[in-house]
Amino acid sequence: MTDEDLDRIARGYREFVAEAQPTSPLYAELAGHVAGSERVLRFLAGLPVGKRQPNLLLAALQFLDGAPADGAELERRITEDGDRVRATVLARATQTNEPARCGALLPVLARLAGPLTLIEVGASAGLCLYPDRYGYDYDGVQVGPTDSLRIRVETSGGVPVPSAVPEVAARIGIDLNPLDPTDPGDRDWLRALVWPGPVAEERLARLDTAAEVAAREPATLLAGDLVDRLPDALDLAAPGSTVVVMHTAVLPYVPGDVRARFAEAVAGLPVRWLAQEPPGAVPGTGERPADGWGKEFVVSLDRRPLARSAPHGGRLDWLDGDPR
Ligand SMILES: C[S@@+](CC[C@H](N)C(=O)[O-])C[C@H]1O[C@@H](n2cnc3c(N)ncnc32)[C@H](O)[C@@H]1O
Repeated sequence: MTDEDLDRIARGYREFVAEAQPTSPLYAELAGHVAGSERVLRFLAGLPVGKRQPNLLLAALQFLDGAPADGAELERRITEDGDRVRATVLARATQTNEPARCGALLPVLARLAGPLTLIEVGASAGLCLYPDRYGYDYDGVQVGPTDSLRIRVETSGGVPVPSAVPEVAARIGIDLNPLDPTDPGDRDWLRALVWPGPVAEERLARLDTAAEVAAREPATLLAGDLVDRLPDALDLAAPGSTVVVMHTAVLPYVPGDVRARFAEAVAGLPVRWLAQEPPGAVPGTGERPADGWGKEFVVSLDRRPLARSAPHGGRLDWLDGDPR
């Protein structure tokens, strides 16, 4: 382990401070502490490269004994309980599943010719595969079922708020490690991935309700890589449906060469391609920000940017363009 390794890890945690600050001041403080702690940086450098990111470390701590109250507690727990933290980090992955992201997908999905087959890559527990089963509130305009969870979205730029949810004929997810929304351990992990802060309670309630929706009407979740399993997912499409390959908050976790192969594969298919990802993750959606992936997402259809959205949902700023 070199000083360069430690510097690189510290830089990732410093970038995360800015990302977390608006919604989780505690995580911003904890990440800032990690960036300045040689002991914690050395602990992280002893983990495989893909297992060092702030989201994963902080979720593991929260999963085991709740979020540390401050940097001193985090440091103490890494020092005294590092083996358990390491085991959790190694056994788990960043799989935050946020159904509120459907609030950014719905205006696009509702404009496509239905019925739809949804193929979500990087689906986690599949909770974004139910855009038709959730209710929405776009600046006070209600859409969809009234007896389900309510996803609130603040908008600007003339979002084409639909009058109804689309018809979904098939729900198929692909994930390296699909989580089971009915499994208590997986649900606890999903809850631990929610950042503590002013909106945590609302997010946890949403997660629980969405998991119940998913449990009532299970999606088909395929285990494996998004490029490798795409043909299997396509085979399961409902006859006569419009097939939508979609993903939210997935491509930053996918190595660049796989991302490029995925983009090439999807572009050559008779499908619609709906993404909600950081700028530049999908070709044609801008430049990758120099200071980290996580501050704002771009909603794109067939590589055309249509809107900007808050990473965990709740805000949608429409750009010029029609979603058809
Ligand atoms: C941050 S989560 C997002 C989950 C969900 N899309 C959402 O927005 O709520 C990213 C998911 O992508 C999955 N993932 C990462 N790389 C993948 C790959 N190469 N193939 C399939 N899934 C992948 C992870 O396992 C994880 O569940």
